[in-house]
Amino acid sequence: MRKHICPQLASVFEHLTTSSQVTTDSAGGFVNSDSALLEQAEAVQQQRVELGLEGLVGNLACVVINTERDRQDAAVQELLDGTGFHLTAAFENEQLRTAVLAADGSPNILVQSRTTDGPFHSETPCPKADHLPNTRLETFVFEAMDLQRYVAIQRDQGVRFLTNDFIETEHFRFIQTIPSSFSQISYGYIEWKTGVHNYASCESRPIELTCVKRDNPMLTNIGVLDHTATRVEARDRDAAIVEFMMLTNHNFKFSVYVKQFNSITNVARRAEGDFAMVFTSGIRPYIDDTQSGPTEKFIHNYGPRVHHMAFRTEAIETTYESLVDGGMEFLIGLVGDEAEGLRQTFSKPSPNTLLVNEYIHRYGDFDGFFTAGNVTLLTGATDKQ
Ligand SMILES: [Fe+2]
Repeated sequence: MRKHICPQLASVFEHLTTSSQVTTDSAGGFVNSDSALLEQAEAVQQQRVELGLEGLVGNLACVVINTERDRQDAAVQELLDGTGFHLTAAFENEQLRTAVLAADGSPNILVQSRTTDGPFHSETPCPKADHLPNTRLETFVFEAMDLQRYVAIQRDQGVRFLTNDFIETEHFRFIQTIPSSFSQISYGYIEWKTGVHNYASCESRPIELTCVKRDNPMLTNIGVLDHTATRVEARDRDAAIVEFMMLTNHNFKFSVYVKQFNSITNVARRAEGDFAMVFTSGIRPYIDDTQSGPTEKFIHNYGPRVHHMAFRTEAIETTYESLVDGGMEFLIGLVGDEAEGLRQTFSKPSPNTLLVNEYIHRYGDFDGFFTAGNVTLLTGATDKQ
């Protein structure tokens, strides 16, 4: 039995996926289409306004990646070596050991490990991820305004948080939801009380990590966390997106269907230039590795989870060459070009976080978020995972 962040919302989707509104193929099998999603997305946007939630959740403050303890420093080092992020703080308490990475103008990346079991567990076996049971991008933490009001409204709607009380320090007030049954993501909210963005809890003490930022000027080209992509099962796509919309102030914008790979890339954004949340799912559910395409195959092997973090990258050709020279391996070379407005690539997944790095150069006045050609090539490249 799945435990939902919001049972009320989940029951709407349970009803929808068993009702006559479900699109099916000629054999009666489930097929995603955008009609029900668009209807639900509009309804939740209106509901947010009616409930007074609009304006209470801002941009992404940080993502929290949990690793196995013996791989945490290697995970931090990889991020230092593969991006322009710097290590700005490290601390630990009885439960958590945390490293904070920052880059100008970007949400932060927190890499942590815990001494006790966390609430994030796969409900089904994941053949390619079970050897790292505590490893995933677990939490998206958004900046919140008037967090007490926000939580009171959401609790009234049935939303479940991990703790009864806020975690408070002199600098912030924080709370997070239980993990989503659709995406395995938890949504966190931080209300800063001062201008000091210090994530350490009251019981934390500073620690020294041996990780070093190597002197590679090319890394300064790799900055802002542009988007992440989370892979969810075909049947859970609509619910995962609407749940995310209900818990944040992001809105579903558009989807790109890649029929040849049985994949849909769906984009949710709050404001132009802000971090974008991407959900990717199959058009049809998983059947087997040969028929289902790379997206559903990934979910079968790794479970629903964040697949990649995309970093905005300037001078992507020379930066990419420098990463290759430094030993980084890639699933695909650079795709797209300046005329199309986008150039991108995918690294191979990290053995320490299971995450892929995307490097994305957005050129000039390109006003689309993705191009169908790049999405197709990048999706195809993930078949190698
Ligand atoms: Fe991406």
